[in-house]
Amino acid sequence: MNSVVTQQRVLSGMRPTGGLHLGHYHGVLKNWIKLQHEYECFFFVADWHALTTHYEEASTIDGHVWDMVIDWLAAGVNPGSAKLFIQSRVPEHAELHLLLSMVTPLGWLERVPSYKDQQEKLKEKDLSTYGFLGYPLLQSADILMYKAGLVPVGDDQVAHVELTREVARRFNHLYGREAGFEEKAEAAIKKMGKKNGRLYKSLQTRYREKGDHDALDTGRALLDAQQNLTIGDKERLFGYLEGSGRMILVEPESMLTMASRMPGLDGQKMSKSYNNTIPLREDPAVIEQKLRTMPTDPARVRRTDAGNPAKCPVWQLHEVYTDDEVRKWVQEGCTTAGIGCVDCKQPVIDAVLKELEPIRDRAKQFIEDPNTLRAIIAEGCEAARDVARDTMEEVREAIGLSYKN
Ligand code: TRP
Ligand code: SF4
Repeated sequence: MNSVVTQQRVLSGMRPTGGLHLGHYHGVLKNWIKLQHEYECFFFVADWHALTTHYEEASTIDGHVWDMVIDWLAAGVNPGSAKLFIQSRVPEHAELHLLLSMVTPLGWLERVPSYKDQQEKLKEKDLSTYGFLGYPLLQSADILMYKAGLVPVGDDQVAHVELTREVARRFNHLYGREAGFEEKAEAAIKKMGKKNGRLYKSLQTRYREKGDHDALDTGRALLDAQQNLTIGDKERLFGYLEGSGRMILVEPESMLTMASRMPGLDGQKMSKSYNNTIPLREDPAVIEQKLRTMPTDPARVRRTDAGNPAKCPVWQLHEVYTDDEVRKWVQEGCTTAGIGCVDCKQPVIDAVLKELEPIRDRAKQFIEDPNTLRAIIAEGCEAARDVARDTMEEVREAIGLSYKN
């Protein structure tokens, strides 16, 4: 059911980069896995987004999509709680993107920091395309389609959520102003009953006259709880609370995913571009080999040289993987040359292997049973389309494109 009640809906997307690594697991996936129990979640593969930068390598996208979805599932994203879908399978995203493009000033897109940053960073690619400039707006369409209240993103994406808020506001301003708005809103208040109606009015006054944001939140919660209002009436009353028109598209909040504390094998942030990753489905022998050969404090040339964990990437892994007791053992042993680096790495190796074993097993099941994998996605796409169809109907109607009469 698509409604204005969206505070509890979460939407997030990931570009299909292929198999994921421990950085994704500790940064994004564990967060998704937690959120899926607390909210209604939609997680999707942003395949069109991949095309905005990788249009010359489009043939790699297909494989990357499935590898990524396998890793989501293997990590514990549960298709019974979260809806998992592929962006291009919900073509309504393209329609909403198009309609939003009509009302979005070029300057808003040119000012998004990632526009120039990425062009600088990906110099080898020609990113002076229409699609690349518009990609944050495509993201806005992704978000607004589901009326998501919360969007978990990394800090590089916060500006896109901010753009989304501005676009939603502009859309509502342009198309939420229907004839007889006030009368309709007042009639809707009556439908809430005397007590709730009076409460609504007092919250409205508190917000409009004193800018009291708590009153706004309380007012929204009150509306969320109303059973006998139509979607149209709820949208009116959401907007009327603030003194704007109908709130057709909902302004989302970004929910900052804590930067992954997962260091790579060299102590820098774990990232494919630094070539310092441990992929989730890596062979255990290779993982062990990678960890055994990873660099340590350069001061420890010989086993008898004392070291300093603060200067060692292995220590950063201890901070993720081991408990206080082991860490104390490391601190003492390292600074007194009481333990060797080989000893020091062992608990980390054990912990990483233990963490990845069930993930690898689950991934194997999906690899061996591609039908189940395809069915999970097909189901998620259907659920997403149900919401998307409803939103597009409202959007077309608000603009005046529904041709019903
Ligand atoms: N742009 C995001 C990225 O590059 C992916 C993305 C696309 C997304 N649409 C989204 C994330 C909507 C959150 C919500 O990582
Ligand atoms: Fe690093 Fe551990 Fe070796 Fe110290 S003993 S340098 S913390 S690997």
